[in-house]
Amino acid sequence: YTSMKTVIISNRLPVKIIEENNEYTFIPSEGGLATGLGDVYKNGNSIWVGWPGIEVPEDRQQEVVEKLAALNLYPVFLTQDEINLYYEGFSNEVLWPVFHYLVTYAHYEQSYWDCYRSVNDKFAQTTLKLLNKNDRIWIQDYQLLLLPCILRTQQPFATIGFFQHIPFPSYEIFRLIPWRKELLNGLIGADLIGFHTYDDVRHFISTATRLLPVNSTANVLSKGDRQIVVEAFPMGIDFDKFSGLTTTQEVKKEIDYFKSGKNEVKFILSIDRLDYSKGILERLRALELLLQHHPEYIGKIELYMIVVPSRDSVPQYRDLKEQIDQLVGNINAKYRSINWIPINYFYRSFPIEVLSALYATADICLVTPMRDGMNLVSKEYIASRNQNDGVLILSEMAGASKELTDALIVNPNNLGDIMEAILVALKMPLDEQQRRMKAMRSIVEKFNVKHWVQNFILRLNEVKDTQKSLLT
Ligand code: UDP
Ligand code: G6P
Repeated sequence: YTSMKTVIISNRLPVKIIEENNEYTFIPSEGGLATGLGDVYKNGNSIWVGWPGIEVPEDRQQEVVEKLAALNLYPVFLTQDEINLYYEGFSNEVLWPVFHYLVTYAHYEQSYWDCYRSVNDKFAQTTLKLLNKNDRIWIQDYQLLLLPCILRTQQPFATIGFFQHIPFPSYEIFRLIPWRKELLNGLIGADLIGFHTYDDVRHFISTATRLLPVNSTANVLSKGDRQIVVEAFPMGIDFDKFSGLTTTQEVKKEIDYFKSGKNEVKFILSIDRLDYSKGILERLRALELLLQHHPEYIGKIELYMIVVPSRDSVPQYRDLKEQIDQLVGNINAKYRSINWIPINYFYRSFPIEVLSALYATADICLVTPMRDGMNLVSKEYIASRNQNDGVLILSEMAGASKELTDALIVNPNNLGDIMEAILVALKMPLDEQQRRMKAMRSIVEKFNVKHWVQNFILRLNEVKDTQKSLLT
């Protein structure tokens, strides 16, 4: 298979354009899909098709095409209308909230749907221009659910894999979407469909068999003479990169800086994109509860909370930003002293060296999403703990909780539960920290992102081989 090229397609490319003084520069994109796959694609025989993150006027598109081609990246340009209706609209005001079980946040607008269809077509057109006969296609995530079927119609024998990075909800939730059958029909154009967890697989299979004329045996759907395999592939991270980073000069300098003069203070870390699925307000309320009921910790703990700007034109994200600002302000104003502040809040992204130093310094990493497909931040923390110390507090609603069973697992809706877990973490003896951390490190090291890519591609090849042998 070595001569086969993999064409990766996702809404967002692993780099995005920043415009400054009319100059375009490229910086790494945020979010698990881009950070997770962003390194491995360079090593394999692959190209990547996707949107470069801003509206590029027509007269500058050629320049962008040329600069990206040097990185094996191929842009799909979206107009401002398409950004509003397909990306912010259907992807992030319909699919994102519904798939994360926040059904009251969904806006079922016909114009969003029409544009979602036409932009999926647009991605297909760009892909078809780049595709050779023997290439395999690997489509990523919920912004492109219709693409497998569009490509299948054009190229009936193509090898098409699809991976969804966010949860797949239960049938009772999914069936609320007005265009539910069209979405499922889009998806089953693929030969192999992957999710992070077995629960997502189950939800998808039961939804598909209830809404479509397909049969299922175990994890295989059949429609006429086509078979579609559905499996769980829990995504990993580049363990060696995060483990190695902490020992570089640049990161060591940052670590010393964070630690200076703070020997008596325990340091709690949280890192997320600004998103209502991440449970940021609940986490803040749990910390407030702790300061209220355990005043002995005032002056003894600090939360470093990194919130990365995300989708800030979508109303619910804008509102959440206001609420976070307010709550952080209230808690800090109430509990701070002249030389101590409970929450160090940053609304920005950071280079990986700073993230690495934060991971390496934090006594506790607090990850409390209401729902999360996987959550790579929790794995990055673990990979950065070369001394095997530190405590991970992890929501049971994150896909990662299925693998990281030695974390302190909490229900993110139970503020008392989160508070108790923080107390347990603050008091946890070093040998228990090490026992838990070692167990989790070996899992994160073994099931790393390279392993994830290889597994998915291997399975895709197998599925295709089986289909071919059935035909002959
Ligand atoms: N991240 C980043 N810049 C930052 C903060 C975080 O690139 O300033 C990365 C982080 O390292 C992680 C990703 O964003 O790899 C977040 O992935 P996760 O799976 O935790 O959540 P998602 O954003 O995909 O929902
Ligand atoms: C999640 C999604 C990705 C998305 C990322 C960042 O990880 O699964 O598909 O790229 O968030 O969100 P954005 O809307 O900025 O691409």
